[in-house]
Amino acid sequence: MSIQNVASWNNLQKDWNRLKDVHLNDLFLDNPKRFDQFSFSKDDLNIDFSKECIDEGVLRNLIKLAKECNLEQQRDAMFSGKYINSTENRAVMHVALRANSTDAYEVDAIPTSDMVDDVLNEFLNFADSIRSGKISNAHGQSFTDVINIGIGGSDLGPVMSVNALSAFSNGGPNLHFISNVDGNDFLDTTSGLDPKRTLILVASKTFTTIETMTNAKTAKDWLLSKLTESEISNNMVALSSNLKATKEFGIKNENVFGFWDWVGGRYSMCASIGLPIALSIGSKNFRELLAGFRDMDIHFKTAPLNKNLPVLLGLIGIWRRNFMKLPTLAIIPYDQRLDRFPAYIQQMDMESNGKSVSKDGSDVSIETAPIVWGEAGTNAQHSFFQLLHQGTNIVPVDFIIAARASHNLSGHHEKLISNFLAQSEALAFGKSKDKVLKEMLKNNVDAEKAKNLTPHRYFKGNKPSTSIIHKELSPFSLGRLIAMYEHKIFVQGIIWGVNSFDQWGVELGKVAAVEIGNVIEGNESISNLHVATQPLLKKIYELRK
Ligand code: F6P
Repeated sequence: MSIQNVASWNNLQKDWNRLKDVHLNDLFLDNPKRFDQFSFSKDDLNIDFSKECIDEGVLRNLIKLAKECNLEQQRDAMFSGKYINSTENRAVMHVALRANSTDAYEVDAIPTSDMVDDVLNEFLNFADSIRSGKISNAHGQSFTDVINIGIGGSDLGPVMSVNALSAFSNGGPNLHFISNVDGNDFLDTTSGLDPKRTLILVASKTFTTIETMTNAKTAKDWLLSKLTESEISNNMVALSSNLKATKEFGIKNENVFGFWDWVGGRYSMCASIGLPIALSIGSKNFRELLAGFRDMDIHFKTAPLNKNLPVLLGLIGIWRRNFMKLPTLAIIPYDQRLDRFPAYIQQMDMESNGKSVSKDGSDVSIETAPIVWGEAGTNAQHSFFQLLHQGTNIVPVDFIIAARASHNLSGHHEKLISNFLAQSEALAFGKSKDKVLKEMLKNNVDAEKAKNLTPHRYFKGNKPSTSIIHKELSPFSLGRLIAMYEHKIFVQGIIWGVNSFDQWGVELGKVAAVEIGNVIEGNESISNLHVATQPLLKKIYELRK
């Protein structure tokens, strides 16, 4: 059934017709206690939707929509190991990576708990042994530096988390990341590092990704510049589900940490892809991170829909995207150490739900994933917030902050909090022309000048945002936050009727790059390329002369 025929969808359309000319100022005038009505908590995590353009009727219909789209049944299908990734014929069980054995998850009627625990224990032991120096290089020296070579899901989660949790590293090795096939990424990252004391992690689910394999080969040569062929085996580790390829690449068995095809790349940071995080923060903290993920998994699995944080976050996103017709979503963490969080969620969201085909192969008839972007606050305020406040596009924002600072520098966190609160307030309520004019006149601005400046200086307001507050940034709270976004994206995929777990859209460009690469390497004639590409390549050749 097309979504437009779902009763609640039509009711939501009516809700929007009713609310589209209502200002957030009016909603708060009607009910100054909107926070009590539209904010939801789970322990020390609070999400405030009061500055979204919603009322009780909208929320009720959104919940009905979730029910009418069988969200609960589909969620249960995921948790029970059903093959919900239909185009790749796979289960989707990243929740099993952070489970307790009592959760009793299964794939193909095989309990996942033992296999997950075995690999988890192996890679956490390895991480602790590297940290303590128990595992060393061929010369008995400890590793001072670790480079993770990976891209997309094999990079973004680890790089974001290592940065986010740097306060927990407590003497671990220095972590570095190489993702881009641009040789400068390799050169800049390895500059000043000692190959002998550097552990290289090759992180790739498929172990075929061109960027990663190119960087991995270069890394091998870099190690060989200071170590012998047999010595480098101590310095190389693989994180992958393609064990045949890791063997062919020459990585010794005990340095290979695998995972399963039911873990999607962008959902893999709780699998062995998380090894760089464990190397940075140690096994105890890594287990805390997993506990945070699980805490949200269980909440998502069991909380009633109208109190379920990822469900509510997902539904508000549906409201913004499909009824308010807002095409983007800005994620703004007021936390410098979460500055890669928007990029991480960007892949998770856009690669999962950036689809225009339904699960049954028919075209979708509604908008799907928003364009997700963002930057840490307050920096973002000094770059693109002008457009958020006065531009012609309305950009909904998810603001995120920790109540407590993870440092004791005086005055900083208070300013961060003031800005966090000020921005959502200014976006929502704006400043009227009347007020702007009066203020200028009061400050003795010439009347004519004040009149001319007023249109430039007033703020329409009525810009929606959600405020997410947690107590502090810790391994547990980070895991909980990520899992909330993972499940939010799941919820939206169900409403939109797309398969959130494949990514066919990345294939075409990859294949074309291989074909063009064959020409550049001299194995094929340039005349085999598309007529639009031939002159560009010729221009590049000309400029390279
Ligand atoms: O090209 C997209 C993608 O397949 C992502 O889904 C994935 O996270 C990334 O490439 C890296 O893939 P792999 O871990 O197999 O190297």
